[in-house]
Amino acid sequence: MESGRILTIEYFHGSKFGNGVKVAEEFKKLMGEKGVAVNIHHVGAAKPTALPAADLYIFSSPGRMGRPRGCVRRFLKRLNLPAGTKYALLTTEGAPRPDKKTGRMPTEEEIARWQKVRPKMNEILQAKGLVKVAEEKVYVTGLKGPLEEGWESKVAILFEAIVKDLNG
Ligand SMILES: Cc1cc2nc3c(=O)[nH]c(=O)nc-3n(C[C@H](O)[C@H](O)[C@H](O)COP(=O)(O)O)c2cc1C
Repeated sequence: MESGRILTIEYFHGSKFGNGVKVAEEFKKLMGEKGVAVNIHHVGAAKPTALPAADLYIFSSPGRMGRPRGCVRRFLKRLNLPAGTKYALLTTEGAPRPDKKTGRMPTEEEIARWQKVRPKMNEILQAKGLVKVAEEKVYVTGLKGPLEEGWESKVAILFEAIVKDLNG
């Protein structure tokens, strides 16, 4: 980056089985190569009412019953950041599976009817006036993982979108 000061991203996740931590570490590695500092925290160890200053915040959650994990929901609801603050989402979600009876894969529309992990997060954050820069999901192939093959490319997509915004 060319701003002349070290840009900082604060990254908050609610990983239970460790997949979300791997995703966070990969993102941190990519940003490190650009000279951007990424500080990773579990929401359970962070104080949502007194977050460190940052150029961008990343919020990450595993899916639970079509929604973000409870600890992430509570964290986001208690968040105290000024309106206009920039954020991005990077979730870990269960990969769509074929219907057990028909073998047919669900359509985007069918998935969106119950899978509301990112919509719920956006709803909470945008009600506080926060501004989304980008969002991405990484799939896990089983309930507890592992991450889908080639998952790093999804992290790279979000990374590119954020770099573009920070440079912009
Ligand atoms: C009880 C349970 C319910 C889940 N429900 C969902 C869900 O509704 N949507 C989804 O995308 N993933 C769901 N998952 C899978 C999670 O996405 C997965 O556990 C998580 O992404 C793994 O991330 P972590 O290792 O960082 O915890 C569920 C997992 C468990 C254990």
